[in-house]
Amino acid sequence: MNMTTKESRYETLVAQVAALIEGETCRMSVLANVTAALHDAFPEIFFWVGFYMVEDGELRLGPFQGPVACMHIACGKGVCGTVWAEKRTLVVPDVEDFPGHIACSSLSRSEIVVPVFGRGGSVKAVIDVDSCSLGAFDEVDARYLEKIAKNLSKELAL
Ligand code: SME
Repeated sequence: MNMTTKESRYETLVAQVAALIEGETCRMSVLANVTAALHDAFPEIFFWVGFYMVEDGELRLGPFQGPVACMHIACGKGVCGTVWAEKRTLVVPDVEDFPGHIACSSLSRSEIVVPVFGRGGSVKAVIDVDSCSLGAFDEVDARYLEKIAKNLSKELAL
């Protein structure tokens, strides 16, 4: 995708997410709407988009858009569990090259996972986005999804 188009779509999305967060305290409702906004911003690229929430020492499936997905992921397992353990964004251009990748759908070919930090710096959730195309995500996706994660963390006191 043309970089300008991608960045302008993300700029619109960031503003939309800020509006969805504004004045709201119901975390799950906001996260559900944020997944819808994310999916609608890039429907041709975002095959699956959603949150995994850190709860009781594991990642649990939260609000998402897309096919049914695994509900429990342990720390350090798969891309999501690795992001939680390493506290950093991972861009995976080809899921088959990521050892331990958890395949919720065989259609998923590339993935980006971004941590959502709590106030104390611990990971409270991750944003997971999958695409049916190889190499669908890059540093632009990382930068904007991290911005959205930061806003969620700040406004929802995650
Ligand atoms: N692929 C992820 C699992 C979640 S699904 O993609 C929705 C992983 O390896 O952690």
